[in-house]
Amino acid sequence: MSSWLGWFSGFAVFVLIVQILRFVVPWLYENIIGPNFFGSPIKFGELGEWAIVTGATEGIGKSYAKALAKEGQNLVLISRSKPKLDDVAKEIESKYQIQTKTIAVDFTESTEIYSTIEQQLKDLKVGVLVNNVGMSYSNPEYFLTIPNRDKMLGDIVTCNIVSVTNMCKIVLPAMVERQKGVIINISSMAATIPNPLLTVYSASKAFVDKFSEDLATEYGKKGIIVQSVLPGFVATNMSKIRKPTWMAPSADRYVASALKTIGIARHTTGYYPHAIMQLTINIIHALLPETANRFILSHMEALRAKALRKKET
Ligand SMILES: NC(=O)c1ccc[n+]([C@@H]2O[C@H](COP(=O)([O-])OP(=O)(O)OC[C@H]3O[C@@H](n4cnc5c(N)ncnc54)[C@H](OP(=O)(O)O)[C@@H]3O)[C@@H](O)[C@H]2O)c1
Repeated sequence: MSSWLGWFSGFAVFVLIVQILRFVVPWLYENIIGPNFFGSPIKFGELGEWAIVTGATEGIGKSYAKALAKEGQNLVLISRSKPKLDDVAKEIESKYQIQTKTIAVDFTESTEIYSTIEQQLKDLKVGVLVNNVGMSYSNPEYFLTIPNRDKMLGDIVTCNIVSVTNMCKIVLPAMVERQKGVIINISSMAATIPNPLLTVYSASKAFVDKFSEDLATEYGKKGIIVQSVLPGFVATNMSKIRKPTWMAPSADRYVASALKTIGIARHTTGYYPHAIMQLTINIIHALLPETANRFILSHMEALRAKALRKKET
Protein backbone atom coordinates (compact mmCIF):
# COMPACT_ATOMS: atom_id res chain seq x y z
CA MET A 1 0.00 0.00 0.00
CA SER A 2 2.74 2.47 1.06
CA SER A 3 4.84 1.72 -2.07
CA TRP A 4 1.71 2.32 -4.18
CA LEU A 5 1.20 5.66 -2.37
CA GLY A 6 4.87 6.54 -2.90
CA TRP A 7 4.61 5.76 -6.60
CA PHE A 8 1.41 7.82 -6.90
CA SER A 9 2.89 10.89 -5.14
CA GLY A 10 6.04 10.64 -7.29
CA PHE A 11 3.86 10.57 -10.40
CA ALA A 12 1.79 13.54 -9.13
CA VAL A 13 4.96 15.59 -8.51
CA PHE A 14 6.24 14.64 -11.99
CA VAL A 15 2.96 15.80 -13.63
CA LEU A 16 3.07 19.04 -11.62
CA ILE A 17 6.67 19.76 -12.67
CA VAL A 18 5.86 19.01 -16.33
CA GLN A 19 2.84 21.34 -16.17
CA ILE A 20 4.88 24.15 -14.56
CA LEU A 21 7.67 23.73 -17.14
CA ARG A 22 5.11 23.72 -19.96
CA PHE A 23 4.16 27.23 -18.84
CA VAL A 24 7.47 28.59 -17.53
CA VAL A 25 9.74 27.64 -20.45
CA PRO A 26 7.58 29.20 -23.22
CA TRP A 27 6.99 32.29 -21.01
CA LEU A 28 10.73 32.79 -20.51
CA TYR A 29 11.46 32.13 -24.18
CA GLU A 30 8.74 34.43 -25.57
CA ASN A 31 9.27 37.32 -23.15
CA ILE A 32 12.95 37.33 -22.33
CA ILE A 33 15.24 34.80 -24.02
CA GLY A 34 13.84 34.83 -27.58
CA PRO A 35 13.49 38.62 -28.09
CA ASN A 36 16.64 39.63 -26.18
CA PHE A 37 19.10 36.87 -27.07
CA PHE A 38 17.96 35.77 -30.54
CA GLY A 39 15.80 38.64 -31.87
CA SER A 40 13.04 38.42 -34.45
CA PRO A 41 13.75 36.02 -37.32
CA ILE A 42 11.60 38.17 -39.65
CA LYS A 43 13.24 40.02 -42.53
CA PHE A 44 10.76 42.72 -43.46
CA GLY A 45 12.36 43.34 -46.85
CA GLU A 46 11.45 39.81 -47.96
CA LEU A 47 7.75 40.29 -47.18
CA GLY A 48 6.96 43.16 -49.55
CA GLU A 49 7.95 46.75 -50.21
CA TRP A 50 5.19 48.49 -48.26
CA ALA A 51 4.03 48.57 -44.66
CA ILE A 52 0.75 50.10 -43.51
CA VAL A 53 0.35 51.73 -40.09
CA THR A 54 -3.01 52.99 -38.81
CA GLY A 55 -2.98 55.76 -36.21
CA ALA A 56 0.47 56.68 -37.50
CA THR A 57 0.99 60.31 -36.49
CA GLU A 58 1.53 59.92 -32.74
CA GLY A 59 2.58 57.50 -30.04
CA ILE A 60 2.98 53.80 -30.69
CA GLY A 61 1.84 54.02 -34.33
CA LYS A 62 4.40 56.68 -35.21
CA SER A 63 7.11 54.62 -33.52
CA TYR A 64 6.16 51.51 -35.53
CA ALA A 65 6.25 53.67 -38.68
CA LYS A 66 9.76 54.96 -37.90
CA ALA A 67 11.04 51.51 -36.95
CA LEU A 68 9.70 49.94 -40.17
CA ALA A 69 11.13 52.79 -42.25
CA LYS A 70 14.49 52.09 -40.64
CA GLU A 71 14.13 48.53 -41.97
CA GLY A 72 13.69 49.99 -45.47
CA GLN A 73 9.91 49.61 -45.72
CA ASN A 74 7.92 52.19 -47.70
CA LEU A 75 5.02 53.39 -45.62
CA VAL A 76 1.31 53.97 -45.94
CA LEU A 77 0.42 56.22 -43.00
CA ILE A 78 -3.25 56.43 -41.99
CA SER A 79 -4.78 58.85 -39.44
CA ARG A 80 -7.39 61.62 -39.32
CA SER A 81 -5.36 64.78 -39.71
CA LYS A 82 -3.90 65.48 -43.15
CA PRO A 83 -1.45 68.19 -41.92
CA LYS A 84 -0.11 65.87 -39.20
CA LEU A 85 0.22 63.02 -41.71
CA ASP A 86 2.12 65.27 -44.12
CA ASP A 87 4.52 66.37 -41.36
CA VAL A 88 5.23 62.80 -40.23
CA ALA A 89 5.62 61.60 -43.83
CA LYS A 90 8.12 64.39 -44.55
CA GLU A 91 10.07 63.70 -41.36
CA ILE A 92 10.30 59.94 -42.03
CA GLU A 93 11.02 60.25 -45.77
CA SER A 94 13.93 62.58 -45.23
CA LYS A 95 15.39 60.59 -42.35
CA TYR A 96 15.12 57.10 -43.84
CA GLN A 97 15.03 57.71 -47.64
CA ILE A 98 11.87 55.69 -48.19
CA GLN A 99 8.59 56.46 -49.98
CA THR A 100 5.40 57.30 -48.14
CA LYS A 101 1.73 57.57 -48.98
CA THR A 102 -0.80 59.14 -46.62
CA ILE A 103 -4.52 58.45 -46.24
CA ALA A 104 -6.59 60.80 -44.08
CA VAL A 105 -9.63 58.95 -42.73
CA ASP A 106 -11.49 58.81 -39.44
CA PHE A 107 -11.90 55.21 -38.27
CA THR A 108 -15.01 56.13 -36.28
CA GLU A 109 -16.82 56.75 -39.57
CA SER A 110 -18.93 54.27 -41.53
CA THR A 111 -17.44 51.36 -43.45
CA GLU A 112 -17.36 53.46 -46.65
CA ILE A 113 -13.86 54.64 -45.64
CA TYR A 114 -12.58 51.13 -46.42
CA SER A 115 -13.42 51.53 -50.13
CA THR A 116 -11.25 54.68 -50.11
CA ILE A 117 -8.42 52.85 -48.34
CA GLU A 118 -8.66 49.80 -50.64
CA GLN A 119 -8.55 52.05 -53.70
CA GLN A 120 -5.40 53.81 -52.40
CA LEU A 121 -3.65 50.52 -51.65
CA LYS A 122 -4.28 49.06 -55.10
CA ASP A 123 -1.00 48.05 -56.80
CA LEU A 124 1.09 48.23 -53.60
CA LYS A 125 2.94 45.09 -52.50
CA VAL A 126 2.06 45.18 -48.80
CA GLY A 127 4.18 42.97 -46.54
CA VAL A 128 3.29 44.41 -43.14
CA LEU A 129 0.09 45.78 -41.63
CA VAL A 130 0.11 47.40 -38.19
CA ASN A 131 -3.46 47.80 -36.92
CA ASN A 132 -2.56 50.32 -34.24
CA VAL A 133 -5.39 52.86 -34.23
CA GLY A 134 -7.47 52.78 -31.08
CA MET A 135 -9.39 55.03 -28.72
CA SER A 136 -10.58 54.97 -25.13
CA TYR A 137 -12.55 57.22 -22.78
CA SER A 138 -10.72 60.32 -21.59
CA ASN A 139 -10.61 58.91 -18.02
CA PRO A 140 -11.83 55.79 -16.18
CA GLU A 141 -15.63 55.98 -15.86
CA TYR A 142 -18.64 53.90 -14.89
CA PHE A 143 -20.43 52.41 -17.91
CA LEU A 144 -23.66 54.35 -17.28
CA THR A 145 -22.01 57.73 -16.72
CA ILE A 146 -19.63 57.88 -19.68
CA PRO A 147 -20.02 61.42 -21.07
CA ASN A 148 -21.77 61.50 -24.44
CA ARG A 149 -22.24 57.77 -23.92
CA ASP A 150 -24.01 56.62 -27.09
CA LYS A 151 -21.53 58.31 -29.42
CA MET A 152 -18.49 57.35 -27.34
CA LEU A 153 -19.42 53.67 -27.14
CA GLY A 154 -20.17 53.50 -30.87
CA ASP A 155 -16.89 55.25 -31.68
CA ILE A 156 -14.81 52.90 -29.50
CA VAL A 157 -16.34 49.79 -31.04
CA THR A 158 -16.06 51.15 -34.60
CA CYS A 159 -12.52 52.45 -34.22
CA ASN A 160 -11.07 49.57 -32.20
CA ILE A 161 -12.90 46.56 -33.65
CA VAL A 162 -14.27 47.40 -37.10
CA SER A 163 -10.96 48.93 -38.23
CA VAL A 164 -8.93 45.83 -37.40
CA THR A 165 -11.41 43.48 -39.08
CA ASN A 166 -11.70 45.54 -42.26
CA MET A 167 -8.01 46.32 -42.64
CA CYS A 168 -7.23 42.59 -42.39
CA LYS A 169 -9.96 41.88 -44.96
CA ILE A 170 -8.35 44.34 -47.38
CA VAL A 171 -4.73 43.27 -46.96
CA LEU A 172 -4.90 39.50 -46.39
CA PRO A 173 -5.91 38.26 -49.88
CA ALA A 174 -2.68 39.48 -51.56
CA MET A 175 -0.58 38.26 -48.62
CA VAL A 176 -2.18 34.82 -48.86
CA GLU A 177 -1.57 34.77 -52.62
CA ARG A 178 2.13 35.57 -52.05
CA GLN A 179 2.27 33.21 -49.04
CA LYS A 180 3.92 35.81 -46.82
CA GLY A 181 3.07 38.78 -44.65
CA VAL A 182 2.95 40.06 -41.08
CA ILE A 183 -0.12 41.56 -39.41
CA ILE A 184 0.43 43.22 -36.04
CA ASN A 185 -2.77 43.97 -34.15
CA ILE A 186 -2.42 46.30 -31.16
CA SER A 187 -4.67 45.07 -28.38
CA SER A 188 -3.97 46.00 -24.74
CA MET A 189 -2.99 44.33 -21.48
CA ALA A 190 -6.40 45.64 -20.36
CA ALA A 191 -7.91 42.79 -22.41
CA THR A 192 -6.36 40.15 -20.16
CA ILE A 193 -6.54 41.61 -16.65
CA PRO A 194 -9.50 42.94 -14.62
CA ASN A 195 -10.13 46.50 -15.81
CA PRO A 196 -13.33 48.00 -14.39
CA LEU A 197 -14.23 51.58 -15.37
CA LEU A 198 -12.65 51.01 -18.79
CA THR A 199 -15.07 48.19 -19.55
CA VAL A 200 -15.92 48.88 -23.19
CA TYR A 201 -12.33 49.74 -24.10
CA SER A 202 -11.01 46.53 -22.51
CA ALA A 203 -13.72 44.41 -24.12
CA SER A 204 -12.96 45.92 -27.54
CA LYS A 205 -9.29 45.00 -27.04
CA ALA A 206 -10.29 41.46 -26.01
CA PHE A 207 -11.97 41.22 -29.43
CA VAL A 208 -8.70 42.26 -31.10
CA ASP A 209 -6.77 39.62 -29.16
CA LYS A 210 -9.22 36.77 -29.85
CA PHE A 211 -9.62 37.76 -33.51
CA SER A 212 -5.81 37.78 -33.91
CA GLU A 213 -5.35 34.44 -32.17
CA ASP A 214 -7.79 32.59 -34.40
CA LEU A 215 -6.74 34.41 -37.58
CA ALA A 216 -3.14 33.43 -36.80
CA THR A 217 -4.17 29.78 -36.69
CA GLU A 218 -6.28 30.04 -39.86
CA TYR A 219 -3.57 31.67 -41.97
CA GLY A 220 -0.38 30.45 -40.28
CA LYS A 221 -0.20 27.56 -42.72
CA LYS A 222 -0.39 30.08 -45.59
CA GLY A 223 2.80 31.76 -44.36
CA ILE A 224 1.08 34.71 -42.64
CA ILE A 225 2.11 35.80 -39.15
CA VAL A 226 -0.66 37.47 -37.15
CA GLN A 227 0.56 38.89 -33.86
CA SER A 228 -1.53 40.26 -31.01
CA VAL A 229 0.39 42.89 -29.03
CA LEU A 230 -0.94 43.76 -25.57
CA PRO A 231 0.93 46.77 -24.15
CA GLY A 232 0.68 47.92 -20.57
CA PHE A 233 1.22 51.64 -20.00
CA VAL A 234 3.28 53.44 -22.65
CA ALA A 235 4.02 57.17 -22.33
CA THR A 236 1.76 58.65 -25.05
CA ASN A 237 -1.14 61.08 -25.40
CA MET A 238 -3.63 58.28 -24.77
CA SER A 239 -2.16 57.22 -21.43
CA LYS A 240 -1.52 60.88 -20.49
CA ILE A 241 1.84 59.76 -19.09
CA ARG A 242 4.33 62.45 -20.03
CA LYS A 243 7.54 61.19 -18.46
CA PRO A 244 8.64 57.70 -19.57
CA THR A 245 9.67 55.25 -16.86
CA TRP A 246 10.84 51.63 -16.85
CA MET A 247 7.24 50.44 -16.41
CA ALA A 248 5.73 53.04 -18.80
CA PRO A 249 8.39 53.40 -21.51
CA SER A 250 8.46 55.87 -24.38
CA ALA A 251 6.71 54.68 -27.53
CA ASP A 252 10.08 54.34 -29.33
CA ARG A 253 11.51 52.15 -26.59
CA TYR A 254 8.33 50.10 -26.38
CA VAL A 255 8.20 49.46 -30.14
CA ALA A 256 11.92 48.60 -30.34
CA SER A 257 11.19 45.86 -27.82
CA ALA A 258 7.91 44.69 -29.39
CA LEU A 259 9.48 44.35 -32.85
CA LYS A 260 11.93 41.79 -31.46
CA THR A 261 9.01 39.50 -30.58
CA ILE A 262 7.62 39.13 -34.12
CA GLY A 263 7.90 35.53 -35.22
CA ILE A 264 8.68 34.52 -31.62
CA ALA A 265 5.42 35.22 -29.78
CA ARG A 266 2.02 35.49 -31.36
CA HIS A 267 0.35 36.88 -28.21
CA THR A 268 2.65 39.22 -26.28
CA THR A 269 2.84 42.32 -24.13
CA GLY A 270 5.84 43.19 -26.31
CA TYR A 271 7.93 44.45 -23.38
CA TYR A 272 9.13 42.18 -20.58
CA PRO A 273 8.34 44.52 -17.62
CA HIS A 274 4.72 44.52 -18.88
CA ALA A 275 4.83 40.72 -19.12
CA ILE A 276 5.95 40.52 -15.47
CA MET A 277 3.17 42.90 -14.45
CA GLN A 278 0.54 40.94 -16.40
CA LEU A 279 1.70 37.66 -14.88
CA THR A 280 1.70 39.07 -11.34
CA ILE A 281 -1.82 40.51 -11.66
CA ASN A 282 -3.17 37.30 -13.16
CA ILE A 283 -1.60 35.09 -10.46
CA ILE A 284 -3.05 37.30 -7.70
CA HIS A 285 -6.42 37.33 -9.49
CA ALA A 286 -6.40 33.53 -9.85
CA LEU A 287 -5.59 33.02 -6.15
CA LEU A 288 -7.76 35.80 -4.65
CA PRO A 289 -10.25 36.93 -7.32
CA GLU A 290 -12.54 38.98 -5.06
CA THR A 291 -9.69 40.78 -3.30
CA ALA A 292 -7.94 41.52 -6.59
CA ASN A 293 -11.16 42.87 -8.16
CA ARG A 294 -11.87 45.07 -5.13
CA PHE A 295 -8.29 46.41 -5.10
CA ILE A 296 -8.30 47.20 -8.83
CA LEU A 297 -11.75 48.80 -8.61
CA SER A 298 -10.66 51.13 -5.80
CA HIS A 299 -7.48 51.99 -7.77
CA MET A 300 -9.56 52.85 -10.87
CA GLU A 301 -12.01 54.88 -8.75
CA ALA A 302 -9.07 56.87 -7.37
CA LEU A 303 -7.82 57.53 -10.93
CA ARG A 304 -11.35 58.60 -11.93
CA ALA A 305 -11.64 60.98 -8.96
CA LYS A 306 -8.24 62.51 -9.72
CA ALA A 307 -9.17 63.03 -13.39
CA LEU A 308 -12.52 64.61 -12.46
CA ARG A 309 -10.81 66.97 -9.96
CA LYS A 310 -8.35 67.98 -12.70
CA LYS A 311 -11.22 68.66 -15.14
CA GLU A 312 -12.95 70.91 -12.58
CA THR A 313 -9.90 73.13 -12.06
N1 LIG B 1 -0.50 54.23 -24.58
C1 LIG B 1 -0.80 53.18 -23.83
O1 LIG B 1 -0.52 53.15 -22.63
C2 LIG B 1 -1.49 51.99 -24.47
C3 LIG B 1 -1.65 50.84 -23.68
C4 LIG B 1 -2.27 49.73 -24.24
C5 LIG B 1 -2.70 49.76 -25.55
N2 LIG B 1 -2.55 50.89 -26.29
C6 LIG B 1 -3.06 50.88 -27.66
O2 LIG B 1 -2.04 51.31 -28.53
C7 LIG B 1 -2.61 51.97 -29.67
C8 LIG B 1 -1.94 53.31 -29.88
O3 LIG B 1 -2.13 54.08 -28.71
P1 LIG B 1 -1.29 55.41 -28.41
O4 LIG B 1 -1.19 55.50 -26.95
O5 LIG B 1 -0.08 55.43 -29.25
O6 LIG B 1 -2.32 56.52 -28.93
P2 LIG B 1 -2.09 58.07 -29.27
O7 LIG B 1 -0.76 58.53 -28.84
O8 LIG B 1 -3.30 58.77 -28.77
O9 LIG B 1 -2.09 58.07 -30.89
C9 LIG B 1 -3.26 57.72 -31.57
C10 LIG B 1 -3.00 57.79 -33.07
O10 LIG B 1 -4.18 57.36 -33.73
C11 LIG B 1 -4.71 58.42 -34.55
N3 LIG B 1 -6.16 58.36 -34.38
C12 LIG B 1 -6.85 58.50 -33.21
N4 LIG B 1 -8.15 58.35 -33.43
C13 LIG B 1 -8.30 58.12 -34.77
C14 LIG B 1 -9.41 57.89 -35.60
N5 LIG B 1 -10.65 57.90 -35.12
N6 LIG B 1 -9.20 57.66 -36.91
C15 LIG B 1 -7.95 57.68 -37.43
N7 LIG B 1 -6.85 57.89 -36.68
C16 LIG B 1 -7.02 58.11 -35.37
C17 LIG B 1 -4.07 59.70 -34.00
O11 LIG B 1 -3.84 60.66 -35.02
P3 LIG B 1 -4.91 61.81 -35.42
O12 LIG B 1 -5.33 62.45 -34.16
O13 LIG B 1 -4.16 62.69 -36.36
O14 LIG B 1 -6.01 61.09 -36.11
C18 LIG B 1 -2.71 59.18 -33.56
O15 LIG B 1 -1.84 59.08 -34.66
C19 LIG B 1 -4.10 52.03 -29.39
O16 LIG B 1 -4.76 50.99 -30.06
C20 LIG B 1 -4.20 51.84 -27.89
O17 LIG B 1 -5.44 51.29 -27.51
C21 LIG B 1 -1.95 52.02 -25.77
